Formats: sequence, C-alpha cells, structure tokens
Amino acid sequence: MFKRVIITSGPTIEPIDPVRYISNRSSGRSGLYLAEEAVKRGIAEIIFITGPTCFSPKGVTIIPVETALEMRSQLQRYSNDADVIIMAAAVSDYRVAKYSTKKIKKDQDTLTLQLVKNPDLLFELGQEKKPGQVLVGYAAETHDILENAGEKFEKKNLDLLVLNQVSPENPAFDSEENQVYLFTSAGVRKLEKMEKSVLAARIWDEVYRIKKVKVEEEEQRTEDRGQRTEDRGQRTEDRRQRTEDRRQMKQLLMKSFCGGSRGTIFSKSAPLAARGKKNE
Ligand code: CTP
Repeated sequence: MFKRVIITSGPTIEPIDPVRYISNRSSGRSGLYLAEEAVKRGIAEIIFITGPTCFSPKGVTIIPVETALEMRSQLQRYSNDADVIIMAAAVSDYRVAKYSTKKIKKDQDTLTLQLVKNPDLLFELGQEKKPGQVLVGYAAETHDILENAGEKFEKKNLDLLVLNQVSPENPAFDSEENQVYLFTSAGVRKLEKMEKSVLAARIWDEVYRIKKVKVEEEEQRTEDRGQRTEDRGQRTEDRRQRTEDRRQMKQLLMKSFCGGSRGTIFSKSAPLAARGKKNE
C-alpha cells in the first residue's frame, strides 16, 4: 500500500554559540518505534529524518539533522513522493536570532537571547499535501488539551493528530509509556496508557485505515466523474438525434407537400431538383 514514508523523530537543536544550544526533552523513542513498526510492515522506503538521539533503527534510510531549518530542507527533498509523513519530531519553535561564532563569555550578570520563530514544518506540509497523502502530526498540551489539539488538527490540515497530555502522571517525553488521544476526521478517541512500541502499531493501524478510506473516496470520485462524462455523452447523442429527427421530418413534409400539390408555391428551402420537377 505504501511505497515511501517519512518519519521525523527526536528533538531539533538550535545553536547559540559553538558550545551551547536550545533544545527540548524529546528522546526520539516514539519515532524509533514508528520506524521499527514500518519495517515490520514491509514498507519499501522509510526515510527517517532525525534530530540528535541515541537511536538508529535498522532497515531505514537515516538522515541526521540538527536544526529545524535543516529538517525543513530534508522534508522538501523527500515529501513530494511520500505516501505518508509522520511528524513525530519535537521541532524547536524558536532559534536564536544571531548565532555567535565565538563562545559567549560569562562576563555579564544577565544575558538576554533574542529568539525568532522557526517555520511550522507540519503546517507547511499540510498546505502542500498531495492527493492521497496521509499526514500525521503530534500535539503536546498541558491545558485545554482537546480544544488546542482540535484547532491544530484543522489548521494544519492533518489526517491524524496524536495528542499527548503532558502532566506529572503522563510525562510523555523521555518515557517508555504514553497515554494519547487520536484525532481523525471521524472524531476523537482516548487510548489507554500503553508502551510506546504498542502505540506505534496502533498509530500505523490508523494510518492504514485512513489510507483505505482515501482510496475508496478517490475510487468513488473517479466513478462519479466517469458517470458524469457518460451522462454528457448521452445528452450530446440525444441532441444529435433530435436534430436528425427534425431534419427527416422536414424532408418528409416537403416531399408530401411537393408530391401532393399541383400548385406552383415552393418553400424557399425546397430542393431545386424538386422545384424543377414541378415546373416541367
Ligand atoms: N512542528 C513543526 N514545526 C514546528 C513546530 C512543531 O512541524 N516549528 C510539528 C511537530 O513535529 C509536531 C507538532 O508540530 O508534529 C507539534 O506541535 P506542538 O509543539 O504541540 O504545537 P505547536 O504547533 O508547535 O504549537 P504550540 O507550541 O504553540 O502549542
């Protein structure tokens, strides 16, 4: 069913100077298990774009990146031909406005870093989504979780959103277990807390289900288009038939008029041959 899938994983890191960076708590476990599950399912090409983590799954094409902008260029390179894109990476929302090529010395009591927003890669993918492509995103929320995630699902044009409720009971990041909600166009489903490896299989099941629905919808659209073309053809044929009937009727009328009368009145459109005959 799937020839090429892309999985992004891990954190991105945004350098401040040659020895420091800003990042987040993502371990890359979710991405790792998603990749392993894709291998198990025999997917031909698995592009694994990953920020720095300790994991290197076997049987996938690993593309290491560091920053959000690097991840973006790799996505641009591969996303056009991807059947599925799963954005499991925790992409840094901000990067420092000005990277310092020299190590920043601690000679001041306070230090202010100016940050600029990174592009939202998932949003961009949603804008450029190809017909039939399945796009999966994540949300990590601490409050108003369902409202916030619902908005993200719509705004980013997703097919599936995996919502992590980040709380002391469910840290979500850097843990073996997770409890999530799945948002699809069919609604929201709360899953029980489970091992991330089991969750990865559930997510892939959902991706296959969504793809099946997309294929069925596309088949229906093709059938409807075929039916419309057939109807148009039938209407053209009916019009042609009516024109032909009118022409034949005219000819018949003309024949009976010309044959039955001895008068000299002719329709302007009566064939010359007929007129000649009458005048003999
Ligand atoms: N994401 C992305 N590009 C970014 C930030 C996030 O592609 N610059 C993707 C992540 O890969 C993940 C989802 O967006 O699939 C995570 O979104 P989340 O961090 O929950 O929310 P944001 O959209 O970043 O919004 P906010 O941080 O304001 O909640």
